[in-house]
Amino acid sequence: MAEPLLTIENLRISFPSEGGPVSVVDDVSFDVGREVVALVGESGSGKSMTGRAVMGLLPRGARIEALRMAFDGQELTALSPSAWNRLRGRGIGLVLQDPKYSLNPAHKIGRQVEEALLLHEKISAAERREQALEMLSKVGLPDPERVYSSYPAALSGGMGQRAMIAAMLVSRPKLLIADEPTSALDRGLQDQILTLLRSLTEELGMGLLLISHDLQQVSRYADRVLVMRQGRIEEEMASADLANAGSAYTRALWAARPSAATYGTRLPVYEGGR
Ligand SMILES: Nc1ncnc2c1ncn2[C@@H]1O[C@H](COP(=O)(O)OP(=O)(O)OP(=O)(O)O)[C@@H](O)[C@H]1O
Ligand SMILES: [Mg+2]
Repeated sequence: MAEPLLTIENLRISFPSEGGPVSVVDDVSFDVGREVVALVGESGSGKSMTGRAVMGLLPRGARIEALRMAFDGQELTALSPSAWNRLRGRGIGLVLQDPKYSLNPAHKIGRQVEEALLLHEKISAAERREQALEMLSKVGLPDPERVYSSYPAALSGGMGQRAMIAAMLVSRPKLLIADEPTSALDRGLQDQILTLLRSLTEELGMGLLLISHDLQQVSRYADRVLVMRQGRIEEEMASADLANAGSAYTRALWAARPSAATYGTRLPVYEGGR
């Protein structure tokens, strides 16, 4: 079998505390190929920390240890800060929950989509514009020319998230990490964006690590599911096998689906045993 895009072995992330270091991610191992892998689990289980470790974007104070973290044949634990910068954007892209925080309100969309090309590729301004417009159209934005010259405030939430995805994909990263990419959107838009991410993953031959609370929802778009609990991977399986999930925790996540009524509130934390 071909080498996966991303291989993580025995990842541990801890923070210092008065009583000594506290692990928030512990002994986590998984890989991602050119496929959609969902990382799900209750609030605080360590999903975002895992995703941020892969991007080299852990918060200050975090201590990271891993036997191996390899992306596309490159060992990540040995990267210098400038090598991390090159990797982000060109190799690995990140989409976050809310375009409000990811798009700069002071710059037009076109400029923000082109930014990744400015940093990483020596191409002419006309070519940059063409590639940006092509990507804005690929993410399903009507009238890409108009979006190109709009400011973020002129776009709806769903359009903003599409523009954000375009900005991440224009430099053709091999791996995209999407951390709750749709939880700021209403239900119908969520499914549209997840469908888009799934089809772009196939079309561009990428890998997608899709982080979410909502096991039922993301399993429809993922090939495989990693279920995280208290910093560890509790269970890993093909989406098609979820109906036969062995762990009570996975079954509880499956049943506890967030709805419009619970949006913005904390999900219940599973109290049962392992
Ligand atoms: N800067 C920090 N210092 C200490 N602990 C932190 C820090 N940031 C996060 N944590 C802890 O790390 C744990 C994992 O957090 P993480 O953000 O990965 O959870 P998550 O699974 O993404 O949750 P959510 O679904 O709510 O986004 C949590 O217990 C959190 O309190
Ligand atoms: Mg999170």
